[in-house]
Amino acid sequence: MSAKTLYILAFETSCDETSVAVLENDRVLSNIILSQEYHAHFGGVVPEAASREHLRKIAELTDEALEKAGLKIEDVNIVAAASEPGLIGAILIGLNFAKSLAASLNVPFINVNHIQAHLYSPFLNESKPEFPFIGLIVSGGHTLLILVEDFFRHRILGTTVDDAAGEAFDKVAKMLGLGYPGGPEIDKRAKNGDRNFHKFPVPRLKDSKYNFSFSGIKTSVLYFLRKNNFESVKNEKIIDDICASFQHAVIKTLFDKTVLAAREFGVKDIAVSGGVSANSSLKHTFLGLQDKGYRIFIPELLYSTDNAGMIGITAYYKYIKSADTGVFKRDTLAVHARPRLDFDNF
Ligand code: KG4
Ligand code: ZN
Repeated sequence: MSAKTLYILAFETSCDETSVAVLENDRVLSNIILSQEYHAHFGGVVPEAASREHLRKIAELTDEALEKAGLKIEDVNIVAAASEPGLIGAILIGLNFAKSLAASLNVPFINVNHIQAHLYSPFLNESKPEFPFIGLIVSGGHTLLILVEDFFRHRILGTTVDDAAGEAFDKVAKMLGLGYPGGPEIDKRAKNGDRNFHKFPVPRLKDSKYNFSFSGIKTSVLYFLRKNNFESVKNEKIIDDICASFQHAVIKTLFDKTVLAAREFGVKDIAVSGGVSANSSLKHTFLGLQDKGYRIFIPELLYSTDNAGMIGITAYYKYIKSADTGVFKRDTLAVHARPRLDFDNF
C-alpha cells in the first residue's frame, strides 16, 4: 500500500438502505446496497423496523464490502458514516458502528452530511463537475438548488416549501395504486403515457424564484382522480397518461429553475443528484442542455439513490481538504461525529 493511498470504509444507514462501500481514494472498490423490503407492505418507511434491519445486517455487509474490494479491515485508514439528516435511530446504527470501528482501528472517523453526499455523488463519475456549478438535489426527503462555489462552500438558492420531489412521486404513485417507492413505477409507466393528457399545475411561489412546491400538484392529481371517478374508470392507459403528465410537470419546474439559476450565475456545469435523478425522462431533459453549451453531471443509477459510495467520496474530499488545516485530527473525533438535525449550513 503506498503511503498516500487512502482506503475509506463508508456507511450509509440514514433511511431504509443499509449500504457499505470501500474506496481507494476517490474510486469505489465496492458498494453494497441492501434495500430493506420490509417497508413496501406499509407504503412508507417504518423507522423502528429500519433501525433493526440495519443492526441485523451491518456487520455482514461490512465483511462483504471488504471482501469484494479485496481488502482486510486492517487496510482501512479512514472510516466514514452518514450522520445527518435522517431517521435518528437508523443513523445511530451506522454512526456508532463506524465510530467504534474507527476507534478500534485507531484511524480517523469522518462524519458526512447525507445531503452533501448526494451533492458530491456526481464526483464518482469519470468526468467531474468544475467549480462553480449548480447542484440540484432531488431525493425522497429533499429538493435543493445550490450554487456550489468550491468544495464545502455552497449557497442554497432554493428549497421546497412543502413536499420533496421524490415524496410527490411516492404519494401520487400511492394514489394510483402503484407500489412503493413510487418514483421508479411512475418512471416506467410514463414511458407509455401521453404527457399532454392533462396539465397538472405547479404553483408559482412569490417569495423566491428558486423555491419549489410539490404539494399542490399532488392535490391536483387527487382532485383529478376524484372528479373523473378514477376507481371505476381506471385502466392501464389512464394510469400511464396520468403518470406521464404528472412527471412532466415536476420535471419542468425542476428544469426551468435550474436553468434560470445557471443563467443568472453564469454557470455552465450542472450536477443533478438524489433518487429522482434516476428518472429517465429527467435525465433526458437535462442532458438535452448539452447541445446548448452546458455540461451535465448525473450519477450512475447505483449512486443516485442512497448508497455508501457517495458517503465515501465526500469523506475523501473532506479529508484531503482539511488535511492542511488539521480539522480531522483524531482527538476531534467526538466533536465531528456529533449528529446535527438541521441542514441549513451543511
Ligand atoms: O435519494 P434517495 O434514495 O433517498 C432520500 O435521500 O430520500 O431518494 C429516494 C426517492 C424516492 O422518493 C423515490 O421514489 C425516488 O427517489 N426515485 C425516483 C426514481 N427512482 C427513485 N423518482 C423518479 N424516478 C425514478 N426513476
Ligand atoms: Zn438520499
